[in-house]
Amino acid sequence: MSPVPSITEAVRQRVSDALAAALPEAAGADPLLRRSDRADLQANGMLALAKRLKGNPRELAGRVVGEVATEGLIADVEVSGPGFLNITVSDEAIVRTLAARAADERLGVPVAERPGTVVIDYSQPNVAKEMHVGHLRSTVIGDALTRILEFRGEKVIRRNHVGDWGTQFGMLTQYLIEHPHELDHQEGEESGGAAMSRLNRLYRDSRALFDSDPEFKERARRRVVELQAGGAETLALWQRIVDESKIYFNAIYARLDVLLTDDDLVGESAYNDDLEALSRELEESGVAVRSDGALCVFFDDIKGPDDRPVPLIVRKADGGFGYAATDLAAIRNRVGALHADTLLYVVDARQALHFRMVFETARRAGWLPDGVAHHLPFGTVLGKDGKPFKTRSGETVRLMDLLDEAVERAAEVVASKAPDLSPAEVAERATEVGIGAVKYADLSTSRSRDYVFDLDRMVSLNGDTSVYLQYAFARIQSILRRGAERGAPAAAAHPELSLAPAERALGLQLDAFGETVDAAAESYEPHKLAAYLYGLASQFTTFYDQCPVLAAPEPAIVANRLFLCELTARTLREGMGLLGIHTPERL
Ligand code: ARG
Repeated sequence: MSPVPSITEAVRQRVSDALAAALPEAAGADPLLRRSDRADLQANGMLALAKRLKGNPRELAGRVVGEVATEGLIADVEVSGPGFLNITVSDEAIVRTLAARAADERLGVPVAERPGTVVIDYSQPNVAKEMHVGHLRSTVIGDALTRILEFRGEKVIRRNHVGDWGTQFGMLTQYLIEHPHELDHQEGEESGGAAMSRLNRLYRDSRALFDSDPEFKERARRRVVELQAGGAETLALWQRIVDESKIYFNAIYARLDVLLTDDDLVGESAYNDDLEALSRELEESGVAVRSDGALCVFFDDIKGPDDRPVPLIVRKADGGFGYAATDLAAIRNRVGALHADTLLYVVDARQALHFRMVFETARRAGWLPDGVAHHLPFGTVLGKDGKPFKTRSGETVRLMDLLDEAVERAAEVVASKAPDLSPAEVAERATEVGIGAVKYADLSTSRSRDYVFDLDRMVSLNGDTSVYLQYAFARIQSILRRGAERGAPAAAAHPELSLAPAERALGLQLDAFGETVDAAAESYEPHKLAAYLYGLASQFTTFYDQCPVLAAPEPAIVANRLFLCELTARTLREGMGLLGIHTPERL
């Protein structure tokens, strides 16, 4: 493993050294380099510097140009506009840098300087309930972040904080006691869908009884107390409901092809035994106070609509613990026992206030150092009508149906593009394309924004879709196969060649992979990686239109272009893999 500094980084270093030589006061200043369409890179840091030092920016830029060491890297550097530097990188430097990337199995991408332990809380569906599109977002984003952070060398601990605790389990377990056959399996009904139907039936029937029969309601209430106290019979029934839900969750996870396993499932119930001591501690330290019988934490800056303070309720007046208490216990466990130095919560933006209050409470209690916990809020999935995504009759859409439909649509696209495929091949690729499309639509939108769930757009071959990226990859594979068939020269970097504009553009984009992974990891934003990959596929398309590969005029050019093709394919595969999306060899 040998990390390769990017061309931008190398140029930044050269310009920064030149700045320090031209103007010792400017040592360490950032030359503010960015990609530009005038030259390869533009540095505009001279403007702010000249202003600060009360000099003339063009004159300063001129002095810097005189100091820039160009050998082996820069073909041209000149002053432009009010005092920018326009920098053109040499063709040779581009090809040599790419050759170094190609020689490394990580494409020259370094691991984090100080990798730490990250606990990431995501997916988090609720037991005995259907998963909805919000859980889909959390699952897909959390999965991509896990892969990206692991690639950077972080230790990532996944926590699927499922909703498996609370008053409704009194109702459900009581109903099971009174109707013991409710969850019995029919022969051959082991699928996730069958499990969910059984749970839906249990939920519906017990809810109906709960709402109509006050005596059942009272028995259900006593059953919660029994459950929280750890009564063996109640716990066993509760476990059956959890297990049934796991069949369903795992069916969804398998369909989505995400990393979550049973070992990552540590739900709200896991913290039950800590809650008593935790609330005592909060009360004794004065972080929480009694208010109308409930144990509450108050905040100066958090007020409701009527200007009354909104408290975080740790323990309800009836003695029951809720959602906030388990989150506090989870923080204590993750920081204290798991030694996390970063806590991530991939949860709907509508829970922002909850996390603000929970983090502040944990901080006051001394359980959470500053800057460790981050709520990564995400926006709402909308229907084509711009309203939260629902079925036509206004019900929540069943996730499994949605995924099945995406795969069906993808099958149409695959079959139309490749009519010679067997039905089995179509089915396999349709899954990779359809599931990829759903993931990519989510991951290519900036996390905090809402997006419209539109399958037609998601599986489209044109535009910013995973199918477009998968096609670019498959097309490269077909070029490589044809090259081999025709006995073309083997792919090899040729730094002595001069490059066409489209080759340069593709080369510089390829070189930016590591910086992009870094940026996505630093801000926990997979969409930066998605945007990069789309840019890469687009640059490749332009390159392929403008630069014949196998029909290039000289063997060295063929070899060099095949080398660019191969590196593009590897970068697409690696990058898509970090988003949790497959790149089939053929489409
Ligand atoms: N189960 C919750 C829901 O469906 C989300 C849980 C988020 N995670 C957490 N640590 N509170 O809304």
